[in-house]
This record gives sequence, C-alpha cells and structure tokens, in this order.
Amino acid sequence: MTAPESARVAPDNPLVAGLERLPVQPTTLVIFGATGDLARRKLLPALYNLAHEGAMPERFHLIGVSRGDMEHEEFRKDCEHAIREFSRREPKDDVLTGLLSQVRYVAGTFEDQDVYASIQEVLEEFDAEAGQRLARAYYLSTAPMFFPVIVEALGKQGLALQDDVPVRVVIEKPFGTSLAEATELNRRVLAVFDEAQVFRIDHYLGKETVQNMLAFRFANGMFEPLWNRNFIDNVQITAAEDIGIGSRAGYYDQSGALRDLIQNHMLQLLCHVAMEPPVAFNAEEVRNEKVKVLRSIMHPSEAETAEMSARGQYTAGHVGAEDVPGYLQEDGVPATSTTETYAALRLEVDNWRWAGVPFYLRAGKRLARKITEIAVTLKPVPHLAFSQQGSLGVRPNQLVMTVQPNEGVSLQLGAKIPGTRMSIRPVNMEFNYGSSFLSQSPEAYERLIMDVMLGDPTLFTRNDEVEAQWGVCDPILSSWAASSGPLPTYESGSQGPLEAERLLLPGHRWRAI
Ligand code: BG6
Repeated sequence: MTAPESARVAPDNPLVAGLERLPVQPTTLVIFGATGDLARRKLLPALYNLAHEGAMPERFHLIGVSRGDMEHEEFRKDCEHAIREFSRREPKDDVLTGLLSQVRYVAGTFEDQDVYASIQEVLEEFDAEAGQRLARAYYLSTAPMFFPVIVEALGKQGLALQDDVPVRVVIEKPFGTSLAEATELNRRVLAVFDEAQVFRIDHYLGKETVQNMLAFRFANGMFEPLWNRNFIDNVQITAAEDIGIGSRAGYYDQSGALRDLIQNHMLQLLCHVAMEPPVAFNAEEVRNEKVKVLRSIMHPSEAETAEMSARGQYTAGHVGAEDVPGYLQEDGVPATSTTETYAALRLEVDNWRWAGVPFYLRAGKRLARKITEIAVTLKPVPHLAFSQQGSLGVRPNQLVMTVQPNEGVSLQLGAKIPGTRMSIRPVNMEFNYGSSFLSQSPEAYERLIMDVMLGDPTLFTRNDEVEAQWGVCDPILSSWAASSGPLPTYESGSQGPLEAERLLLPGHRWRAI
C-alpha cells in the first residue's frame, strides 16, 4: 500500500505538534486469527487509523490467516466492513483502498505446516514485488493454546529469522494462566525467537493516560519528593466495567477477574505508580524498574490471602436503565461456575520507598459504571489550627489519575469556603486531555502496532516481567482454588461485593465507582 498524499498532511493543530512520526521500515504483517473479534474490533481499525494519519510505512502488506475458507477478495471486504464498523474515525475511501489494495488470505488450521509454506510463498511474493526484503511481523491474535503451536511452526518453516530485515512476533494475552504455564510458554517461544523479537501485548501500556503517569511523575519536580511512604498514605487502583462477559464465556469462565485484568493491566498500573525513575526511557531500563517493583511485592501465605484478597460474582440487576442477567445466566457459563467476576487485593510493595503503604487493587464486571483510575491519597496534615467546626471539611489531599473515560488528572485540595467563617471543603484542580490537547487520543493498539513496526519493545511485557506478575497472582489463585466456602456475590450495577470492605485497613474506604 502507498499512503495517499492527503493522508500525509501534518495536522495544523500546534498542540499535537509533539506527535511526530518516525520513519517505519516497509513491513508485511501476518495476523493469525484475522477474522476473530480482536482483529476486527481493534487491529484492523488501528491499521486504518495509522494509515489515515500517514504513519504507515511506505510499503505495507497484510496477510490474514484463519481457519475458514475464503478468497482474498472476500477477506478484503471483511476487513473493510470491520474498519467501517469499528474505526474511531469515519474512514476515507482513498485511504481504505490504499491500505487494503493487496491483502492476502491464507486458510487453514494452525497445526497444519502447509499453512506456513503458503504464508512463506506470499511473503516472498511481496518481497519480490518490492524488490527488497520487507520486515515481518507475526501477530498471534488467537486462542492461547495456539501460541506455542504457531511459534514452533514458524520456526520449522524457517520464518523466524531473516538475515537482513527484522522479524518480530506479537503475542496477545493471556500469556499463560499460572507461573508454571507462563514459564513454559516463554521457554517454547524463546527456543524459536530471541527475546528482542518478542512483543507480549498488554494493551493498557498503549494507552496515552498510562504513559502519562510516567510523564507526570518524572517530568514534574513537585510530585517526586512526596512520592514515598513518608507522605503517601495509600494507593487505590480501580478498573471497573459496567459490561458483562458478553459472548466470551468460553475464555472468561476459565480465567476470572484476577487473571483477566489484575495479573496484567492492573499490575502494570501499580508498577507505573511505584517504580523508581529509570535512568533512560528505553525498553531495558523501564522494564528493569518494573520487574524490581513486582519482585518487591510480598507474596502472601495462604492464611494471609484471606485477609488481603476478596472476590465475587455478579448476580442479576440493573446497569443504568437496563435489566441484566447474572453471571450464571450468561450464555455458555456452567450453572455451577465459581469463577470470580470481581477481585480486590491489598498488596504491599516491600521496599525502601513503599514499605507499609497499602496498594488496593480492584477489578470487576457489571459494576455501577466504567472507570479506570489511580487514586493516590496523601497523609493528613499533622496539625489543624482551625476551629473544630472549620476543620470538618478537611480531607487528605488526593491525586486521581483517570485512565478512562474522561481522561485526565485531578488534584483534590482543601479550600476555604467564601464567607466570614474559616470553613474548608475539598476542591479539585483538573487537567483534562480533551480540553488541553484538543485532539482525540489514539487507540492503544495504534501505538502498539506502530511500536512493533518500529521495533521498540518499551511498552511490551518482557519475559521476566510476565513471570514476576504471575508470581504475585499464583498464591492468591491457589488459595482461592483450595477454599471451600461459598463464593460471595454482588448485584449487577452495584459497587461490588461487601466482602471487599474486609481488606481495607482502618480509616480507609473504597472510592465510589
Ligand atoms: C481485556 C480484558 O484485556 O481488557 C477484558 O480481557 C476487558 O475483559 C478489557 O474488558 C478492558 O479493556 P479497556 O481498554 O476497555 O479498559
């Protein structure tokens, strides 16, 4: 594909001037699972939006691989429909035509070595047409059981290495369902590819607001002196969703909230709050610091797990104005399922900076609304000189970073209510992405696919990092699996199970969802 001139014009909004484009190597992207939900909802629209901005390489080819029989043209049309349905922008016909002019489709099962021979033929055809070798990226957007199968077949076909151009493999989540599985998967992947070729996706890392946490901490002098156990009382990280599990029962019932959201996205958010400043913002340094945080999280004993974790499953209720079914009534969920749709943890990062500061994490489906935020609460002031009455509204300062929706940062301060009395109430100082930058943030997958083509793994999870994440979750999962008590429930549309109150330390409370 060659990007049309119109798509290359730089936007004239000065506030987006920093969003510069780096040159990207000509690339062929092979998507395994190309007709699946993720590819249709996220990957193809992300490719379109990159093309729309003129960010795609001068030459870009797409090969879709999936089970069903289909002609190239049918696949092209399917891609077009997916983009029209899910793109964040109204697609322009010329950009769409340019992007999809040469897509190819390879049908077959992922275990069939002939599929890889066919992929190789198409890859070589594209190289010959371009008169040069194109970089290759294999995107594994399939069920996790196929990750090692595809990687090994690529290796067997000789497709894992090219002398003169980069070859990369992108692996979706979940990366294993336990430490043992993740270690084994790493072993099998790293027997074929080098770590530098492997891009393990955690789409939260592609979110602008998540990256902004590092900008906030490390580009501003005012936070860092306070950013430790002397001034911070507790940290609360919430990923609440109002949606249920939709049509994903097959995956979700085997997974649950802890594996689905906490092991990956929420531990990454925790790392962004807790990590030391890296000496440089590059893949090795940033990930080294995150791994140190994960390794400092205390692993609870079985008895401690009961005090620092809670879970629950949603029952029927209302979300907004809609009546919604309980988890056990969802299509495909076994009537006796004990999978948690809500999980909450109290973790401690046991190092010099954070010892003694509780990090509360909670994630759940079918809660009152969708909100992902990190709330950092400072310690109260040591002494209040105001009269008892005036002091009533005084609360500890709180910095809230909202990842979504209404992306922004808000700082809660105590301010005097105008009038003759010294009465105080909390007020907010707000920064809002929408109004400050007057531009829509790119979708996480746009940034991540671009980074794969650029070969920058900073926003991807390294092998030791993913294992350290499982190291935190494994003891909790084992203790839950061993527990025989009934699974707590919560009504859809509520704040979650009452059970979650139990893990709060005295004086702490969950923020309202
Ligand atoms: C995915 C989970 O990783 O993240 C889903 O598998 C969840 O269950 C989703 O809904 C949430 O992502 P986002 O970007 O909407 O917060």
